Amino acid sequence: MEFIDTHTHLFSEQFDDDIDEVIQRSLNEGITKMYLPNINSDTIDSMMKLSARYPENCFPLMGLHPCDVKEDYQREIDLVKEWHAKHKFYAVGEIGIDLFWDKTFVEQQKDAFRQQIQLAKKIQLPIVIHVRDSFDEVFEIVNDENDDSLFGIFHCFTGDIDQAKQILNYGGFKLGLGGVLTFKNSGLDKTISQIDMEHLVLETDSPYLAPVPYRGKRNESVYLKLVAEKLAEIKNLPLSEVAKITTENANRVFYGK
Ligand code: NI
Repeated sequence: MEFIDTHTHLFSEQFDDDIDEVIQRSLNEGITKMYLPNINSDTIDSMMKLSARYPENCFPLMGLHPCDVKEDYQREIDLVKEWHAKHKFYAVGEIGIDLFWDKTFVEQQKDAFRQQIQLAKKIQLPIVIHVRDSFDEVFEIVNDENDDSLFGIFHCFTGDIDQAKQILNYGGFKLGLGGVLTFKNSGLDKTISQIDMEHLVLETDSPYLAPVPYRGKRNESVYLKLVAEKLAEIKNLPLSEVAKITTENANRVFYGK
């Protein structure tokens, strides 16, 4: 069985002391590909080093995270563009809008999101979207920008069935499922039971959002299997089938529509 963690920040300082063990644990369980979404200009160096150290397993994405859109965001966006011009990345990410922590820079967040969508369309890469308390704002921009060249993942999907349908109606997007699927009372299991497997990919968002029974602890990519097991239970499918379909779906995103 092979699994793909489509969203994992293994270059974070939380892994400084044991990253080789963390990767090895994942490989031992069949999680063979891990996609690393960038956060901001401070994380590029460690992300590039990790993907150079594990070229068969760790793949970098380049983008500016919405929580790091501040006064100086245009400089950060220009840097994202420069990196895409000089290096191979597998998506523009992570990008999006986050109004949970701070609404001060909502207009800047929208502009940064739009610029990075337009970049992705130009260089024909998928986008990895972060949505938090911001479905309306994200949909407004994706409605504007959506066309045949736009595709990617709505990462850490935790919305309701109407939001899921709206995303799938765009035509080019998968829903990324992580640890929240295992949380009691999230309600996400009921939503996902109504969504076809062809639309789903797996992720951990390490070091955040560890699945049950590790909720609240540091997350790592090996725990992807707990999310996969929960999905197998919801869909009443063998784990091997969940592995096969979600791996195919992830490969379709990162290696062409
Ligand atoms: Ni993330």
